Amino acid sequence: MKTQVGIVGAGPAGLVLSHLLAQAGISNAVLEMHTRPYIEERVRAGVLEQGTVDLLNELGLGERMMRQGLMHYGIELRFEGRGHRIDFADLTGGKGVMIYAQHEVIKDLVSARLAMEGEIVFEAREVCVDRIESEKPVIRFVKNGVAQELECNFIAGCDGFHGICRDSIPKGVLKIHDRDYPFGWLGILAEAPPASHELIYVNHERGFGLMSMRSPKVSRLYLQCKPDEELSEWPDERIWEELQKRFSTRDGFSLTEGPVIQKGVTGMRSFVVEPMQFGRMFLAGDSAHIVPPTGAKGLNLAVADVRVLAAGLKEFYSSGKRELLERYSEICLRRVWKVQRFSWWMTSLLHRFSNDNEFDRRRQLAELDYVTSSRAAATTLAENYVGLPLE
Ligand code: APR
Ligand code: PHB
Repeated sequence: MKTQVGIVGAGPAGLVLSHLLAQAGISNAVLEMHTRPYIEERVRAGVLEQGTVDLLNELGLGERMMRQGLMHYGIELRFEGRGHRIDFADLTGGKGVMIYAQHEVIKDLVSARLAMEGEIVFEAREVCVDRIESEKPVIRFVKNGVAQELECNFIAGCDGFHGICRDSIPKGVLKIHDRDYPFGWLGILAEAPPASHELIYVNHERGFGLMSMRSPKVSRLYLQCKPDEELSEWPDERIWEELQKRFSTRDGFSLTEGPVIQKGVTGMRSFVVEPMQFGRMFLAGDSAHIVPPTGAKGLNLAVADVRVLAAGLKEFYSSGKRELLERYSEICLRRVWKVQRFSWWMTSLLHRFSNDNEFDRRRQLAELDYVTSSRAAATTLAENYVGLPLE
């Protein structure tokens, strides 16, 4: 098998790249280790930045999102029993975010790609990359028990944090920057109408809470917990009781409860590798960086990377120039670090840290007070939340 660009991983990074390349007439094939139903059902985040929404629409992939997604123009920050709205539209000149689950995006991307006879190999086993420093890199994999080889001009490592592409780069090339957080998120999906039209981020004595949603009938809720929290210690009643405490207000707010249809614990980390490229292999999305979920930047950052990569590949195939491709890592990392800063900042603003003392607590509350009372401070939150411009 031969193609111009071999893409490892059918997450948001790999699939959006596949569409961008196809649109530019560049042949590509996507190799995915899991089955199609698996990637289409896996519950993940659900906030799309304005730029991501616009791109999906430009690619003709936004029809269902525009019908079923919920456009939001603000969020609430809640602390000391009071809510404060951050008005994105007012602060950013009309921008907002789309609430639409990542696995719904995946369904739309996969079905459109297959409809145009794009190549996606599901259940590709033992995927490995070779000769990445040469002009003819190759991806090897096993499909239905048969060993196969895909020869390409370039490889896109879009295989997430636990993928194989990053680890195929020789030791000593990549510099790793990371930070762990002393907590995780316990998340549930519940058949319960969201108690508010917009997302609510809570900073409470007992820890962070987030009320998000998937539809007017389904809530997505999160609680700050221990990083290794045992789900068995959290029967549904205990989760609701804890959520109600953290979301309570002076004027008697309460969350709408309902059957819990999914439950899980997510760890939190910040992680970046530099550079995001080696030889003819480019890393994009979670394979190159992870952000903590506060602010929901993971998917959007993955999409921003592949836009840069697609632009570089288009330039290469249309003119033979490599300038953009050579600057891929530098261009992506400038944005990656800004988004890292924002995700770290939202996380620090809203969570309780185990070693917090009274000073830290008062400083955190003062910062919340500042962000919700100064237009300048609220604007920095809003412009980052709806998404920084692409270079
Ligand atoms: N071979 C083939 N496919 C692989 C391999 C492998 N060795 N390892 C991982 N994959 C696949 C995974 O099954 C997954 O479908 O690569 C895909 C990577 O997708 P994501 O993890 O979604 O990563 P990415 O596309 O970078 O998107 C980042 O997704 O993880 C969320 O919260 C994250 O929103 C962020 C976004
Ligand atoms: C979600 O809906 O899953 C979600 C929303 C906002 C976040 C993180 C996750 O900051």
